[in-house]
Parts: sequence; C-alpha cells; structure tokens
Amino acid sequence: MTRLLVTGGAGFIGSNFVHHVVENTDHHVTVLDALTYAGNRASLEGLPESRVTFVKGDITDSALVDRLFGETDAVVHYAAESHNDNSLHDPRPFLDTNIVGTYTLLEAARKHDRRFHHISTDEVYGDLELDDPGRFTEQTPYNPSSPYSSTKAGSDLLVRAWVRSFGVRATISNCSNNYGPYQHVEKFIPRQITNVIRGIRPKLYGKGENVRDWIHADDHSSAVLTILDKGEIGETYLIGADGERNNKDVVELILLLMGQPSDAYDHVTDRAGHDLRYAIDSTKLRTELGWAPKYGDFEAGLAATIQWYRDSESWWAGAKDGVEAFYASKGQ
Ligand code: NAD
Ligand code: DAU
Repeated sequence: MTRLLVTGGAGFIGSNFVHHVVENTDHHVTVLDALTYAGNRASLEGLPESRVTFVKGDITDSALVDRLFGETDAVVHYAAESHNDNSLHDPRPFLDTNIVGTYTLLEAARKHDRRFHHISTDEVYGDLELDDPGRFTEQTPYNPSSPYSSTKAGSDLLVRAWVRSFGVRATISNCSNNYGPYQHVEKFIPRQITNVIRGIRPKLYGKGENVRDWIHADDHSSAVLTILDKGEIGETYLIGADGERNNKDVVELILLLMGQPSDAYDHVTDRAGHDLRYAIDSTKLRTELGWAPKYGDFEAGLAATIQWYRDSESWWAGAKDGVEAFYASKGQ
C-alpha cells in the first residue's frame, strides 16, 4: 500500500480525488488542509478512518510539512487559493499559499526524496481567441492574466526548477475547468445552481461569450492517478475532456435542467481582465499514458451535479449569503 499525502484534500477537486482514491485503490491518504473559507471537512464525511487521516495545517508550516513528508511515499499537491475574483480583490493570500506554500513543499520533497505531483491549471497559458483553431498544448508559452493564474504559473516554474536543479521527482498537470460535487458556491456552476434553488436569478459576466473547457472532477482524479503511476519525471501533462462551451450556453442549460425559462438570468459587470477562451489538447496524456475520460456527456454530468446540490443544501447553505453579498458589492 502506498501512503499518499494530499494537500488541499478538503477543497473541491482535492476531496473528489480522496473519494476516488479510496474507491479505486488500496492507498492510504493523509489530507493536509488549512480549512480556509474554501475547505470543508464535511466533504470527506463517510470515508473510513482506516483509509483517510485528516491533519489541519498550513502548507507554509515547514515543521509540519517536514514531519508529514517523512511519513509518506508520494505527495499530490492541490492546496491553493483558487478563485480569480478573489485574487482581483486581495492578491496577497495567493502569493503566500500558491508560491511560498509550493516552495515549502518542494523543499520537503527534496529533503525526503519524495515523489511529488503538482496540480496546476490551463490558465497559466493565458487565453485564446474564440475563432482560434488551436488549443493549449504542453508547448504553449506561459502567459497568465490574473493574480491567481500568475501565482499558479510561478508555482509551476518552481517545480520545474526543483526538478532540474535538485533532482526532485516531480510531475505537473494543467487541467481545464472542473465541475461536480463539493465545489464552492463562489464558482460559476454551483453559484448558478444554488441561485436557482434559492429563487435568485443566475448572474452572467458580460455577454457570456467566454468559453471554458469543462471536465468532470472524477475524470481529473483518474488522470492524476494515471500520471502518478505512469508519468515521466520532469514532464507536464495537460488534462482535458473536449468540453468547450460558452458561459451563456451553460447558464441556459442549467435553467433548462432546473425547469426554468432559459432567459431567466441577469447580465452583470464583467470580470476585470476576463480570459476569453480556454481549450485543452490532452493528446499527450491519452497517447503516452493511455488515459481517457469517462464522463463524455456534459449534460448528464451537469444534471447529476444539480441533483447533488439539491440534496446537499446543508453542505453549501452556510457560505451562500456571504458569497452573494460579496458579489453584490462588486456589481456582480
Ligand atoms: P478549492 O479552493 O476548492 O480548494 C482549495 C483547498 O486548499 C481548500 O480545502 C483550502 O482549505 C486548502 N488550502 C488553501 N490554502 C491552504 C494552505 N495555505 N495550506 C493548506 N491548505 C490550504 O480549490 P479547487 O478548485 O479544488 O482547486 C484545487 C487545485 O486544482 C488548485 O491548485 C487549483 O489551482 C487547481 N485547479 C482547479 C481547477 C478548477 O476548475 N477548480 C482546474 C484546474 C486546476
Ligand atoms: O481553467 C481552470 C480554472 O477554472 C481553475 O484554475 C480555477 O481554479 C477555477 O476557479 C476556474 O477558473 P474560472 O475563472 O474559469 O472559473 P469560475 O467558476 O470563476 O468562472 C467560470 C466562467 O464563468 C468565467 O468565464 C467567469 C464566468 N462567471 C463566473 C461567475 C462566478 C460568470 O459569468 N458568472 C459568475 O457568477
């Protein structure tokens, strides 16, 4: 059995990964999570204590990180400040967690010679025009737009430097937009679903032409396990499931699936510096490592996600009013 340390395992994608690991492997998981506003202990409820140990702590705490790395075989690093809108309001926590936190983990990986997988985002590549026939590949130059994506780009470059300079056994993956259960209500899809449940009209930034490349969080998890198992040290793998859709179409689909008129939403103030389009070419991961997504049908995945939010109001209710008050203060 492998002992995995998962940072940020009480967040959206991290908790989906922990559930996936428990269901599909024999690994033991230790979650290291600071339980910021974005972390939720309830996302790990129901998982057996024999398989999952939870440690509340910060990835910038080098003494704690050192101890936990000494007790593990491999590390998957999800912990981050992850929301673009927050990074436009207050960038500092993004520098602390995404840059200093990743540095702290890399130093521990170097000291203990631990296998390290770094979770990153397609946003490090900037954005594409709507009519650009191309998609992001592992060769696309870095060109981040926001304080969030620039700190993620910085963390990727730290990982590459620690591989080359110190021989750290690391891989990196850059994934597109995830959807599924346990996503915070500040994010686009859960915000609109929970708005409809609460009788609030969904809010679309600008004209809603911006395109995101949607992948189910469980497919992200299977890709990460594949890279951990078969990935080549020092390599970067892009993760995506060919799920491009513009925001207007996604809002209208949510309304349709929730039995509302498809025009029952508001256009609100656009995001500053709003990236136009993301699109992932995941050929390398599919051909070299043999990975394939399972959730091909976005509409079915979205319907299941809507049902999860209907069934899990106690999980998200506590955060909803504060999030909406924050957006309202920004005209969004
Ligand atoms: P999230 O905001 O839902 O979760 C982040 C988790 O990290 C939370 O549980 C939080 O408590 C924890 N955390 C934050 N700062 C910490 C610190 N200093 N020490 C310890 N724990 C800390 O984020 P997410 O959407 O699940 O994203 C997870 C990772 O995946 C991030 O690295 C993000 O850049 C990357 N990613 C996200 C997406 C997406 O669509 N959400 C897509 C591609 C990549
Ligand atoms: O591409 C991967 C990235 O996807 C991750 O690195 C980030 O951590 C994750 O948050 C996500 O970033 P986005 O900025 O694309 O996601 P968000 O859910 O904030 O917004 C998705 C799109 O929807 C974006 O074009 C902005 C728009 N939007 C968002 C909100 C919250 C709206 O139109 N209305 C909204 O209320």
